[in-house]
Amino acid sequence: MRTVRAPATSANLGSGFDVFGVALDRPADVIRVERAPRTTIDVTGVGSQYIPTDPEKNVVGAVADALDAPAHIEIDKGVRPSSGLGSSAASAAGAALALNALYERGHTRTELVPVAAEGEAVVSGEAHVDNVAPALLGGFTVAREDEVTPVETDISLVACLPEIAVSTRDARRVVPDRADMADVVHTVGSAATLTVGMCRSDPELVGKGMDERLVTPARSELITGYDAVRSAALEAGATGVTVSGAGPSLLAVCDPDERGRIAAAMLDAFEDAGVEARAYKTRVGGGADLF
Ligand code: HSE
Repeated sequence: MRTVRAPATSANLGSGFDVFGVALDRPADVIRVERAPRTTIDVTGVGSQYIPTDPEKNVVGAVADALDAPAHIEIDKGVRPSSGLGSSAASAAGAALALNALYERGHTRTELVPVAAEGEAVVSGEAHVDNVAPALLGGFTVAREDEVTPVETDISLVACLPEIAVSTRDARRVVPDRADMADVVHTVGSAATLTVGMCRSDPELVGKGMDERLVTPARSELITGYDAVRSAALEAGATGVTVSGAGPSLLAVCDPDERGRIAAAMLDAFEDAGVEARAYKTRVGGGADLF
């Protein structure tokens, strides 16, 4: 038997649509795998009632197939599905690392990124690496075509998850097909600023670099209370706030000792908008841990 703790992740970070991702120190899924003649899946934990246990429909079934590694797989969900916090990526990355060890396949973490992304494709329809890469490699990751560059960084974050479900498929439908050149130039400037900020562990630059006008404006309309919660977090000291992944979570960047104040301000603003929410005081963390 092998066990993996696989972290939540936040992709995009505003200016890096389908390119940037970070591993979050918390929450996380725990995946246990045991050799079996055919793959079977048990799911417990947060939102488990919405997750199929049929291996054809669950991300980990596709990962087991890709590694030719049939197993009984237990998933204890700490990352709520449809949260924008890389729930399916945590399970896919965790299963890839655990099954690779169980069957001694010998793949590196980098080689497991496309394997885990195949699992992600089962739920989102497309194989993105921007969540599975940080879930496996940790830190801040930049994806360019088939290549992923990880960077270690020390950045504090608050992830605020409202009780709203936004599916990745729906959130991708609202992404515009075309962009204005001035908005593209602005986004490239933001993305470069954010990258420098991650390399320097500088929350001011990371927060500034989240700003973009291509994807987030359309997606924020799917999140009740988005503008008020964002403003509340900025007033409480966040250096930047954006939609986490496909939403509905919001991600705020800040100094470590501002996290409590920012989390409280975001929760109050969601409550004023009539939406229940929970907040994770977190930071950019490492990749999945194998036990
Ligand atoms: N980059 C993806 C998106 C993340 O924002 O749609 C979710 O898989």
